[in-house]
Amino acid sequence: MDAIEITGGRPLRGEVTVSGSKNATLPQIAAALLAPGRSVFRGVPDLADIRTLGRLLAHMGARVERDGDTLSIDAADVGTPEAPYELVKTMRASVLVLGPLVARFGRARVSLPGGCAIGARPIDQHLKALEALGARIELSHGYVEAKADRLRGARILFDLPTVTGTENLMMAAALAEGRTLLENCAREPEIVALADALNSMGAQVQGAGGSAITIDGVTALRPMDLAVIPDRIEAGTLLAAALITGGDVLVRGARAEDLEAPLAKMREAGAEISVEGAGLHIVAPQRLEAVDFITAPFPGFPTDLQAQLMACLSVARGASRVVETVFENRFMHVQELSRMGADIAIDGHTAVVRGVDHLSAAPVMATDLRASASLVLAGLRAEGTTTVHRVYHLDRGYQALETKLAALGASIRRVKGTL
Ligand code: EPU
Repeated sequence: MDAIEITGGRPLRGEVTVSGSKNATLPQIAAALLAPGRSVFRGVPDLADIRTLGRLLAHMGARVERDGDTLSIDAADVGTPEAPYELVKTMRASVLVLGPLVARFGRARVSLPGGCAIGARPIDQHLKALEALGARIELSHGYVEAKADRLRGARILFDLPTVTGTENLMMAAALAEGRTLLENCAREPEIVALADALNSMGAQVQGAGGSAITIDGVTALRPMDLAVIPDRIEAGTLLAAALITGGDVLVRGARAEDLEAPLAKMREAGAEISVEGAGLHIVAPQRLEAVDFITAPFPGFPTDLQAQLMACLSVARGASRVVETVFENRFMHVQELSRMGADIAIDGHTAVVRGVDHLSAAPVMATDLRASASLVLAGLRAEGTTTVHRVYHLDRGYQALETKLAALGASIRRVKGTL
């Protein structure tokens, strides 16, 4: 397992370009299953999660080819609508194949994803909604088995906004008979990107980005050829890297409309942020001010940036209050940040972060994707050399983060094969 070594204390300066979005690409790749023929995706990030989904589709009989940042998926010969445990266990987003498979093939067998480090993360909403479309669902031996002759449109009210749940149902309803109305949908930019992808395949999806989405089912879809949107969470992480180091950075590809809540909090903490060219320019102060924030579904503050902003606030002036409402166990970075001298107390879903003058380097352990990013950020600020172990978590969602940070002046390098 690789580690990342960072010697802190250098303000980041310069320009950096955001890669394609992991969480937009994953459902779009799953949507390729809806159409016989070759779909092409441009600007695909080279990430472990994308490779895992590619392997899963190849297991089903799809032809998956990569040429640089272009990925092509030919789903003409998919013959095994099955997602085995060995692949699903490493990536929860595999559940995204359920909707497309049952819609196109009338059957699917997908391993239940199980819990993960950040919480239990059930898929009851996906299953309840597919049943409403007429799928017969059985759970046996750790697998979801879904069958349907043809799905039928229905009105579905989600109990809570779920990102992959909304995506799964949009894909299933695209080939259903008649109209589906999804209510209390997730509104994330990745949902809009999926609707655009489906519509380019000939689907009729309206309202994505709002809480009600209408889908008029069609009998067949054609393959797509599309460019992936920039990764808003990577963009936010790079802005946070500038923030914690008192830097001055242009993040190309960062879109203000995708990041309103985090930008508001970064400005409240003292940063100047302006739209410049096709990106965002951040100039951070030497010392940040404390700010309170609460995570919520989009357009609220993204849970996927909670750990990163918390790392920044650990060296702010004053006490910040951070409330996590989306996942029940997403404070695992706190213990590791504390080992670097941060003063953070957790009470249930709330963390109180009392800003300290200095962080001090320490060996730390990454526990999940976004927690890993927060430890790298803390390392950029800490005095001395921090080693972040188990960076395979980081590699699931960030393409060459250390190379991008090094190009901005950070003293950072990957160390092969440690703990
Ligand atoms: N939930 C249920 N039942 C369901 C589905 C969700 O109770 O059937 C709950 C979850 O347990 C959670 C809340 O609803 O408490 C929201 O979960 P959601 O379903 O929206 O999360 P997800 O679709 O599994 C996606 C991203 C996550 C991101 C969340 C929240 C992808 C592939 N994953 O997960 O990304 O944190 O939305 O924005 O899009 C990451 O990239 O690091 C990551 C974890």
